[in-house]
Amino acid sequence: MSQAIPIFLVNAEDIRAYHGENQKWLDVSGFKGQAGTFCVVPDAQGSIAKILVGKPETLDTWTLGSLAQSLPAQTYYLADSFSAETATQLCLGWRLGQYQFTKYKQNAQQAAAELQLPENADQDYVRAAAEATFLVRDLVNTPVNDMRPAQLEDCAHILAETYEAKLMVIKGEDLLKQNYPLIHAVGRANDQVPRLIDLRWGEASSPKITLVGKGVCFDTGGLNIKSAASMKMMKKDMGGAAEIFGLAKLIMQMKVPVQLRVLVPAVENSISDNAMRPLDVMPSRRGITVEVGNTDAEGRLILADALWEACSESPDLVIDCATLTGAARVALGTELPAFFCNQADVASLLLKIGQQTDDPFWQLPLHQPYRALLESKVADISNISNGSYGGAITAALFLQEFVTPTTPWIHVDLMAWNLRSLPGRPEGGEAMGMRSLFELIRQWVK
Ligand code: BES
Ligand code: ZN
Ligand code: ZN
Repeated sequence: MSQAIPIFLVNAEDIRAYHGENQKWLDVSGFKGQAGTFCVVPDAQGSIAKILVGKPETLDTWTLGSLAQSLPAQTYYLADSFSAETATQLCLGWRLGQYQFTKYKQNAQQAAAELQLPENADQDYVRAAAEATFLVRDLVNTPVNDMRPAQLEDCAHILAETYEAKLMVIKGEDLLKQNYPLIHAVGRANDQVPRLIDLRWGEASSPKITLVGKGVCFDTGGLNIKSAASMKMMKKDMGGAAEIFGLAKLIMQMKVPVQLRVLVPAVENSISDNAMRPLDVMPSRRGITVEVGNTDAEGRLILADALWEACSESPDLVIDCATLTGAARVALGTELPAFFCNQADVASLLLKIGQQTDDPFWQLPLHQPYRALLESKVADISNISNGSYGGAITAALFLQEFVTPTTPWIHVDLMAWNLRSLPGRPEGGEAMGMRSLFELIRQWVK
């Protein structure tokens, strides 16, 4: 095994001051220390002597994010020293950039370059955050034929076994008996029965945090069938559930002192003779009736029953994550998840943490005047707005009907998918906002 290779972060001035002996090589390679570039510097024998990496003005999680898959598959170390916080960020970015999804390709896994973690980096966090992120990416990337409600349930079983959590799953007709009519209605048209996954972990004396994730393993749109183009990506419609599982894993791995509950309604929104129909009116767990204005607005239906159950135990904080609306993507694009929150102090904390963690969010308002757009002529509420604007907001307002006003609540509407590769974030499934939510919870219980 060859020795670890040093990595130096340099800008144009640093090159002149510290690496002048390599000037000729740097000139022929065209390396000038620009951020986003790097240069492999050989020694006299033709081995790698060192790596120079262009240093941005501000170091962040993504500074080394491209290196794991661009450098030769050897072991490296950081030659400069950094604050513990920066070292942790740099190492995490490297690790996140090692991810490849090659389960379905023969012999495709490329060995990735390894970085020795500096002593002052928070090694436990780097490992746990990378593993949690990889879990989310794997769950989202896996094609639906291998990621159906049963497999989401398997994921919860594995988490429960690994971290000694308690797991309960309510399935099929039992959802009706135990009063989850909306989860049942959305999932009943599929050959795999709908289910509510309910995992509990932690001490009863700790603050109670309940996480809820939209687990629509595939969203055809139901009888309001999606176009081919819109349906294509819908294996990622369990991205909220994946993110919640990743977040739960991170919380349990890092032993954050919370009383955790995870609720994931897992269904497929399918087309069949027993599928829910447009303008069906259904009861909800809360007791109010819901008119199905559009069967493609299924995520809010399953979340409604799960959120009402979440609030029944008066937790200190409820967070739901969902690939809920195309409208949120129109508003903010695909890379910036939206969140809504019924408490201003929690919202500003999450915004601040998002910036610090390089895992940003943008807040959208729970604008109450738009609640009127959800009025139904025959039922207590409709699952769609009768206007065509502000769809992310009206979806959030629908959910708010199923959250008790005194429960602090964050609703995240995310893409869960990188349409393009960025440093540390390969194209495909992504845990957008997960690390920020983790940090919020960690600070919340302090
Ligand atoms: N899963 C979709 C939302 C979605 C689409 C998220 C594309 C990310 C990317 C959701 O179930 C849905 O179909 N929503 C509809 C709601 C409409 C019928 C009120 C939408 O956004 O068009
Ligand atoms: Zn839908
Ligand atoms: Zn959906």
